[in-house]
Amino acid sequence: MYIFFFAFRVLLAIIPQALPYADEMWQGPEIAHNDVFGYGWLTWEWTRDKPLRGPIYHSLFSLLYWILSKLNLDHPQMIAYGPRILQCAISAIYDVYLIKLLTLEGIRNKAYVILVNYTLWFSLNCFSKTLINTFETILFTLALYNWVQYLQTNHNKNNWFCRLFVILNVMARQSAIIPWIFIWPYHLITAKTNLKGRFVILVINGITLLLLFLFSISVDSLYHGKLTSTFYNFLEFNLLSGMSSFYGVHDRLWFITQGLPYVQLGWVVSFIVGIYSYTKKGLFSAQPLRLLYYMMFTILILSLSAHKEDRFLLPLFPIIIYFICLGLEYLDKINWKKLKLVLVILAVISNISFFVLMNTYQDVGALKTMAVLRQRNATQVQFFTQCHRTPFYSFIHQNISMTFPDCSPTNDVTSLETYQLHQDSANYIKKKLQYSKLPSHIVIYNYLMNDNVQKLLDQYDKIESIYHQYYTDTYFEDQKDIYIQIYELHQ
Ligand SMILES: *[C@@H]1O[C@H](CO)[C@@H](O)[C@H](O)[C@H]1NC(C)=O
Ligand SMILES: *[C@@H]1O[C@H](CO)[C@@H](O)[C@H](O)[C@H]1NC(C)=O
Ligand SMILES: *[C@@H]1O[C@H](CO)[C@@H](O)[C@H](O)[C@H]1NC(C)=O
Repeated sequence: MYIFFFAFRVLLAIIPQALPYADEMWQGPEIAHNDVFGYGWLTWEWTRDKPLRGPIYHSLFSLLYWILSKLNLDHPQMIAYGPRILQCAISAIYDVYLIKLLTLEGIRNKAYVILVNYTLWFSLNCFSKTLINTFETILFTLALYNWVQYLQTNHNKNNWFCRLFVILNVMARQSAIIPWIFIWPYHLITAKTNLKGRFVILVINGITLLLLFLFSISVDSLYHGKLTSTFYNFLEFNLLSGMSSFYGVHDRLWFITQGLPYVQLGWVVSFIVGIYSYTKKGLFSAQPLRLLYYMMFTILILSLSAHKEDRFLLPLFPIIIYFICLGLEYLDKINWKKLKLVLVILAVISNISFFVLMNTYQDVGALKTMAVLRQRNATQVQFFTQCHRTPFYSFIHQNISMTFPDCSPTNDVTSLETYQLHQDSANYIKKKLQYSKLPSHIVIYNYLMNDNVQKLLDQYDKIESIYHQYYTDTYFEDQKDIYIQIYELHQ
């Protein structure tokens, strides 16, 4: 079964050309490339005085790159696609444990699990990409599986496995702690045990936290070469300074009114039916409404932050898929088979067509752009695009010079290079080209071109115009039908 899932994912990793969340490439393979080959772009999260990210996730790719380089197999194609294949190998573990988890939770029909999971466009889109949220989801699934196993069988082994996975997960991505600040205390209160039993649980929770802090501080400090805790830095950055709102502010209820329906499309109806049938068991029934509480708590905490993104919901997918399947089984039970059929058909059509649409029209130019730059033997590249929208050295795999407008968070948006570029592209480009040797290649969005820019580029030939996306929002206005254009200096 594992092999089958793996093969399927690899196809998904290689065929679609779209690269959603390209910025996450800069937190994984790009950093690994820098660690192993000595060059690669470190974004502000890594270079600031109090770094925000630790090494756990990208070390997987570092290891891969290191092996490739020792074997002299570090061909650019391997560097570009190797991490994705590795990601697939890990994701396939998720598939196996997802089925195990939902079976434990009483879903009888495995076919439903497979059907739902295969047709949720959002998971099709994410699971084969090197996205840290995927990694988080996989570890969360492993932890939750062990946790539910522990609740049902009382095997201490599962309890400790669960905690190990949580520790690893939080070290990789701090927000992975969120479900557990609910799950563990909830267990402490509801466990059917005496006072001594509760005390033991309390101690175990304490030990877990202690180990978490010890491990994460040592790993972070070793990696960054100074005493630091990315966990603390992350809290400080997001909660105390409120800087996360720099990347967009959303409505309080965004996850519920938009996020959840958006990632599920047609399946959201069964999802609601599933929740309904789950709550019918009663708030204080033999099986308390654990999963529902876990999900609600996580969404609540995520909602407190000003900055919200659909991919933050990914770790909840095992639970979301559980509710969808439960909904389908409930419709079977009350014998509304026709309605179920209609729901399934609508859900499948909406998800699959949206998946195809997103992979044809959104973020599809990034990989091709980098491939062209590599083929043309570019030596110095200047990007006039929004930042972090393409892969970088971890795709080119050559120590050429590449620069792009800076977009690190600041209190004054007008001082941002990306902002200046969008405000007056000709002026910005003129300044950039004035001070340096003319780059061999220039990459620019079509909507930033105008007559003045054209004049500045009179020593260049346009060699490619690559369709990139249907829609994007910029600082000033929304743009449609975006192409990435590549210019080459006359010989
Ligand atoms: C990459 O190029 C930069 C600038 O030319 C140089 O400073 C750096 O040492 C190079 N790194 C490696 C690993 O070759
Ligand atoms: C879940 O869907 C993914 C594609 O997103 C697929 O690769 C995987 O095999 C599926 N897993 C299960 C348990 O069906
Ligand atoms: C790039 O370099 C390779 C090897 O040096 C050469 O074969 C190829 O023709 C070059 N491509 C271009 C477009 O100059």
